[in-house]
Amino acid sequence: GCRIWQKTPVTVLVTGAAGQIGYALVPMVARGLMLGPDQPVILHMLDILPNAEALNGVKMELVDAAFSLLKGVVATTDVVEACTGVNIAVMIGGFPRKEGMERKDVMSKNVSIYKAQASALEKYAAPNCKVLVVANPANTNAVILKEFAPSIPAKNITCLTRLDHNRALAQIAERLNVHVGDVKNVIIWGNHSSTQYPDVNHATVVTKDGEKQVRELVTDHQWLYGEFITAVQQRGAEIIKARKLSSALSAASSACDHMRDWVLGTSKGTWVSMGVYSDGSYGVPAGLIYSFPVTCDKGGWSILQGLKIDDFSRAKLDATATELVEEKSFAYSCLQ
Ligand code: LMR
Repeated sequence: GCRIWQKTPVTVLVTGAAGQIGYALVPMVARGLMLGPDQPVILHMLDILPNAEALNGVKMELVDAAFSLLKGVVATTDVVEACTGVNIAVMIGGFPRKEGMERKDVMSKNVSIYKAQASALEKYAAPNCKVLVVANPANTNAVILKEFAPSIPAKNITCLTRLDHNRALAQIAERLNVHVGDVKNVIIWGNHSSTQYPDVNHATVVTKDGEKQVRELVTDHQWLYGEFITAVQQRGAEIIKARKLSSALSAASSACDHMRDWVLGTSKGTWVSMGVYSDGSYGVPAGLIYSFPVTCDKGGWSILQGLKIDDFSRAKLDATATELVEEKSFAYSCLQ
């Protein structure tokens, strides 16, 4: 018989893989939703020792699902084994805040986790490995990872704000009673926290009469300046309230969107939001991992330049930048 030519498998690391987001994410990756329907994958799943048995159960289920694109699964609690040869790293693992814990305690735990994992990625990952940090505080965990993996190019280290971006698209779609697929070019600026700024000044909707500005279609500007922004900022907390657990399927799905667009490119005339290394664009301090509007091509991203920023937006961009500067210096103080 004849063999169909296949691409070389891409190795994808998922940390915290036995958790809620991991459990939602790994089947998506194995079905080609992250890297494309013709791209075979090998999954490396990492979790901590207390979760080893549960992690092995996830591996058993991946085997049982008989995914045609899945060419191998490693389930391990060894960070070196997990990081070896990885092309894509999705960092979901982190220390969750528990009752009675101070912010400082959570930050210092995560700083040491991300420091250790950065070193392992730097030593053992494949050259040009692309990193997506999902675990909170996502932007600052990514900054720490970058700091301790100096040989990984800064442009390869990103954090997830696509979830917030998708939430913003969904809020506009619900408000206008249109399909979410017809809304595009919202922007999430800044931190994946309640100071993020969901911006619709450049967003459009495809209608039967052509493309229209969201600002023209939503006549209640009070809603756009108030409730809309708060709804997107507080959506994570709303989900926790409803599920008693943080968002998982939407986080996993957005992580796939983030990586897929980064690797395969954004479509013409469309941008997405990604937490990326700031070069000082839009007056955002250089050296932060900050969410910007980006376009992607040939496996790279670029910050979309030249958008007009009004005074309202300027203040919002600065406020979330200030929070990130503080978070960064707080994280560094935990290193001592
Ligand atoms: C989310 O956006 O759903 C999460 O980051 C919320 C959280 O604090 O876990």
